[in-house]
Amino acid sequence: MDKLVIHGQRPLKGRVQINGAKNAVLAIVAAACLADDVCVIENIPKIADIDNMLAILRSMNVQTEYLDEHTVRIDSRTMVNCCADSDEVRNMRASYYLLGVLLGRFKYARVSFPGGCDFGVRPIDQHIKGFEALGAEVDAKSIIEIKARELHGTNVFLDVVSVGATINIMLAAVLARGTTVIENAAKEPHVVDTASFLNSMGADIKGAGTDVIRIKGTPYLHGSTYAVIPDQIETGTLMIAAAATRGDVVISGCIPTHMEALTAKLLEMGVRVTDSDDAIRVRMNGAHRAVNVKTQVYPGFPTDLQQPMSALLTTAHGTSIIQETIFESRFKHMDELIRMGAQIRVMDRTAIIEGVTSLYGAPVTATDLRAGAALLVAGLMAKGETEIYEAEYIDRGYEHIESKLRSLGATIRREPVEG
Ligand code: UD1
Repeated sequence: MDKLVIHGQRPLKGRVQINGAKNAVLAIVAAACLADDVCVIENIPKIADIDNMLAILRSMNVQTEYLDEHTVRIDSRTMVNCCADSDEVRNMRASYYLLGVLLGRFKYARVSFPGGCDFGVRPIDQHIKGFEALGAEVDAKSIIEIKARELHGTNVFLDVVSVGATINIMLAAVLARGTTVIENAAKEPHVVDTASFLNSMGADIKGAGTDVIRIKGTPYLHGSTYAVIPDQIETGTLMIAAAATRGDVVISGCIPTHMEALTAKLLEMGVRVTDSDDAIRVRMNGAHRAVNVKTQVYPGFPTDLQQPMSALLTTAHGTSIIQETIFESRFKHMDELIRMGAQIRVMDRTAIIEGVTSLYGAPVTATDLRAGAALLVAGLMAKGETEIYEAEYIDRGYEHIESKLRSLGATIRREPVEG
């Protein structure tokens, strides 16, 4: 296990490059196996979740090869096994995409329940409802087993707006007979990117990015070369870190329109944010004002940025109220922020943050990926030394985070934890 050690209160300054989007690439790498062919995926971030997903694919006899640091060739012509029940499957959320892929291509899947960050109960009933509507039989007891003689187009109205269910139903429906319509679909950028990748393989998907997606099934998908979009959450985390340290950072290679909910909140706080085509400059000096944040599905404020944003708000002038509407339990980082001097009261899915003048460095523990991002922001703001234990959570979603922050002037190092 590793810890990250940060000496805070150094303003971040300079330019930083954003990597490919974790939540898009996890779906796209799985989707590549819908083709009995070769795909080349570019702009793959070097993060632990991708290593795990590629290991799962190799366990199913898919050939994967890095052509350069961020490009992977995926040859699924040799894919044989429709079963995925390793620890990697159980430890990550996005392994649920194997269900849609295997069902679509082989009409059979046997996959362990997905794991991932612990935000309370994370059901997959909407995924299953979609597969059943397409004509599959699902048995989800200790392992999820799905089979179908054939898949046929259908209408699915999602009871909750779910990123995972929207993508998974698309994955199964692209090779179904007839047209599938997903209503109340998720509109997140990674849903659109996955649909664009599938279309580049010969699928016929229209409406991704709206709440009605139409998928006209095709009998066959071919290989494709495709570059993944930049990561919205990495972009947002670095925007927040720049503001938190009273810095001046240009975040390059991002898509500013994906960041509108965060940009609006930062402007409301008094942070200076300016956009160009593929870059965002964030500048801050002086105090920032408290704001209220309510997490929502896209284009609302993303739940994945609620945690780093709450770290920034601990030193805002005034009282901020955060409402977490997507997940039932996504406030575990608040206890760690309190250890660093934050004044926070949590009541169910609401957190009330009274701004303090400064946070103080302390030993803290990341309990999940974005909780780790919140502690990074807090450590960069705090007086003195912060040690973030369980840094591996952060490695699941951020490529080379400490060298990126160091290149902007942060004092941060990684150390192994003894014993
Ligand atoms: C994905 C992201 C995660 C992000 C989340 C919300 C991946 C690998 N993970 O997670 O980083 O925080 O979207 O943007 O892309 N729900 C149900 N039934 C279902 C599915 C979901 O009730 O079948 C509920 C969930 O409990 C949650 C809400 O719907 O309350 C949204 O979940 P969903 O969008 O599916 O999130 P994930 O796909 O798990």
